[in-house]
Amino acid sequence: MTVAKRIDGKAKAAQLAESITQETASLLKEHGIKPGLAVVIIGEDPASQVYVRNKKRTAESCGFHSVQHKVAEDVSQSDVLKLIDALNRDDAIHGILVQLPLPGHLDEQLITQAIEPSKDVDGFHFVNIGKLTAGHTRDAFVPCTPAGCMLMIEDELGSDLSGKNAVVIGRSNIVGKPMASLLLQANATVTVTHSRTKDLPKVVAGADIIVAAVGRPDMVKADWIKPGAVIIDVGINRVEKIIDGETKMGLTGDVDYEDACTVAGAVTPVPGGVGPMTITMLMANTLRAARLSAGLEG
Ligand code: GUN
Repeated sequence: MTVAKRIDGKAKAAQLAESITQETASLLKEHGIKPGLAVVIIGEDPASQVYVRNKKRTAESCGFHSVQHKVAEDVSQSDVLKLIDALNRDDAIHGILVQLPLPGHLDEQLITQAIEPSKDVDGFHFVNIGKLTAGHTRDAFVPCTPAGCMLMIEDELGSDLSGKNAVVIGRSNIVGKPMASLLLQANATVTVTHSRTKDLPKVVAGADIIVAAVGRPDMVKADWIKPGAVIIDVGINRVEKIIDGETKMGLTGDVDYEDACTVAGAVTPVPGGVGPMTITMLMANTLRAARLSAGLEG
């Protein structure tokens, strides 16, 4: 029996994109500024190609200046750094994103840290990570996926999470760690779990909020979940699924959605939950970068 509410990330993202489009139009009309987003994709990773195409399409539909740099898999580190330097200096570009993962010969840290912090709409620069960790988010960029997760959690539980236990599954720099910072800032009591955590189901059982970001298909089951918990599923796993009697490739999250819905209070589906919100938060960060660059915020 399903008891949980389905959190419609797609609808929420569309609503947010609509207000970003309106604000973009007035920024252009009143200040002559068009937010500019540059996305750099290196190599041919098929999933990255899909993500980047969606980012470009959304940027265009919001009315942004949108550029994509498709770079060959065997590009040298110094050529990537030169491209980032040119984008850092380009006044028409307010946000720069280098799609991850990178080919093995490139140094991810050197590349993400080469992006000017004021154009780091991914929130991966140490300056932005430091500001987030210190709770100084007025002029910092928060990574898009946790920022989107936080908005969905706020919709369910409000912006003050005092007294709530939050369990983050996964400790990545892109999701787990910044997610923990955001939850802590909202006064939740936060536990970050990972592959070395002992008795994960027992830790998760105490959670009023679960954010799953480990990349293990359908890992979180109903019997792990506290009744009424809010569950945010960040996982996007490609798995074989039986659809209409045929085996096809499909997407599934880190949470067993149908099973979780028998116990939880609210759950994000995959697809249609976190994914669309992540892309929209990239647009929100880019609009903010454009406004900050003109001294209109901060
Ligand atoms: N690859 C998967 N997620 C992300 C993201 O949020 N930003 C970038 N740059 N690459 C990613």
